[in-house]
Amino acid sequence: MNMSPAQRRNLLVIAPCFVVIAIMCGLVAYSPTLYRLFCAATGLAGTTQRVAADTARISRQTVTVAFDTNVAPGLPWRFEPAQPPVTVHLGEQKLVYFTAQNLSDESIVGHATYNVTPLRSGIYFNKIQCFCFSNERLGPHEKVNMPVVFYVDPAFGKDADMHDVAQITLGYTFFRAADPLNAKDLSRFLAANPPDPVEGKALFAEQCTACHALDTNKFGPKLGGVFGRRAGAASGYAYSAALKKSGLIWTGDNLDRWLAGPQKFIPGVKMPIRVLDPITRRNIIAYLQQESGQSAAPPKTATAARPSGS
Ligand code: HEC
Repeated sequence: MNMSPAQRRNLLVIAPCFVVIAIMCGLVAYSPTLYRLFCAATGLAGTTQRVAADTARISRQTVTVAFDTNVAPGLPWRFEPAQPPVTVHLGEQKLVYFTAQNLSDESIVGHATYNVTPLRSGIYFNKIQCFCFSNERLGPHEKVNMPVVFYVDPAFGKDADMHDVAQITLGYTFFRAADPLNAKDLSRFLAANPPDPVEGKALFAEQCTACHALDTNKFGPKLGGVFGRRAGAASGYAYSAALKKSGLIWTGDNLDRWLAGPQKFIPGVKMPIRVLDPITRRNIIAYLQQESGQSAAPPKTATAARPSGS
């Protein structure tokens, strides 16, 4: 290409402009992804990998997860992990509890933020269930155990940057809520309280709707009316042979055993997730029962084996 010196000068000015424009377009196009990566790494905005289902393969490799709790000044609560650090296989779902107690004579609303350290391991830390970011109310002197279900992504084991990470710490800090409106009652975590279909609906949205809806078949069969229905009976859904010939009726007890471990309950079925916390199962079942047009009576297994809340 033959260019005059003037043209060459123009090109020298224009070319970097195009590069800058291209970079800016790239940033705009990828900003949601970049934002997500940033938030995932830093745990900002609640995005630290909260997932609907644990479909990851379980690896032989293990990592230790420790727990750290803090209470901000001005909140008269005691807040502690209910267990020492746990060693988990990568990909293995783990249920842990945190205990919160209101030390005062008044009802108080708090809310928790969390972080995962080292920060760079945050992208591999997946929470299936947690109590973060919502306003939570504790009655006077009330004490509850709050479940958290998580797993560490098996990709953690393949990332060279993680080789020096021997322990991941999940930290929570409870603050007094500046705006105590719309608080949920932490008493929903008390085993002694009746099953709560409203909480069950929220849990269903969080943990089941990736694969199920009430009125259409998705990856899993439709679940409207499932309570009291024969197993493997949703029309138009291709069930596993194992579930189809199980001959089960979906009573509260059977649903509880199913959710606690489908593959253990009926070997050969193809639902890949479990619900580890008994009270979570109880509430989801109450919701399914309600959606099946039946009044919610506690399933027999409702006497949940959770570290006692009082
Ligand atoms: C990752 C996908 C996935 C998730 C998440 C999931 N399921 Fe399933 N579920 C399935 C599949 C697939 C089946 C069919 C199993 C078979 O045919 O062996 C199934 C079957 C069922 C059945 C039996 C229904 C029938 O008609 O017999 C129930 C009940 C059920 N799931 C409840 C739940 C609940 C409650 C949750 C949320 C806690 C949940 N599932 C989450 C995939 C999923």
